[in-house]
Amino acid sequence: MRIDILTLFPEIALSPLSESIIQRARAAGLVEIQAHNIRDWSTDKHRRTDDTLCGGGQGMLMMPGPIFAAIEELRGPDTKVILMTPQGKTFKQAIARELSEEKHLILLCGHYEGVDHRVIEELVDLELSIGDYVLTNGAIAAAVVTDAIVRLLPGALGDERSHQDESFSDPNLLEAPAYTRPIDFRGLKVPEVLTSGHHAKISAWKKEKALERTRQNRPDLLGE
Ligand code: ADE
Repeated sequence: MRIDILTLFPEIALSPLSESIIQRARAAGLVEIQAHNIRDWSTDKHRRTDDTLCGGGQGMLMMPGPIFAAIEELRGPDTKVILMTPQGKTFKQAIARELSEEKHLILLCGHYEGVDHRVIEELVDLELSIGDYVLTNGAIAAAVVTDAIVRLLPGALGDERSHQDESFSDPNLLEAPAYTRPIDFRGLKVPEVLTSGHHAKISAWKKEKALERTRQNRPDLLGE
């Protein structure tokens, strides 16, 4: 798989993708990730990439020229172009799973008030938001989306079973609380059932606690 991130801040996008599991996936050749500066496609002598809004309004908008040039140069026959924007569809685990099957993604990162709408109409296959809040730029969102996709690639996590238990494998249930040693920490004890060795009881306990936690933190997942 290949992921190209188009941004005004390549360092912001790449920094979280250069350590730990994602860095190991890159080193093992499971994914090739590159971040490019959109300014490199500006034809302006000041390397400008933004301009004022047509029809008036506050702020600046990314202009179409450099973005069209960049995407036309980077895309191939199997490329999916995704715009990171708070106006996008909300990113979920199911979308991460779908995107992990793609061969080539271009993640275009908005900045200022966003991008000229002709970019969206002509070049973008999918607009994605990582949540209902506004970041200073899309590079942070692109790093989040890339991380969630790359960890799903076969071989990226050492233990393939790690995917099965986690929250959102069942999209309607959060994970149960988890404990490690010591069994007694400052008088705070690990629930007895977890050290009982009784697998059916442990399973039932986990299910009950998962429900309890979901009800408390994400009642929306239960339709409540
Ligand atoms: N750019 C700014 N805010 C964003 C968000 N919530 N998701 C994706 N891209 C963004």
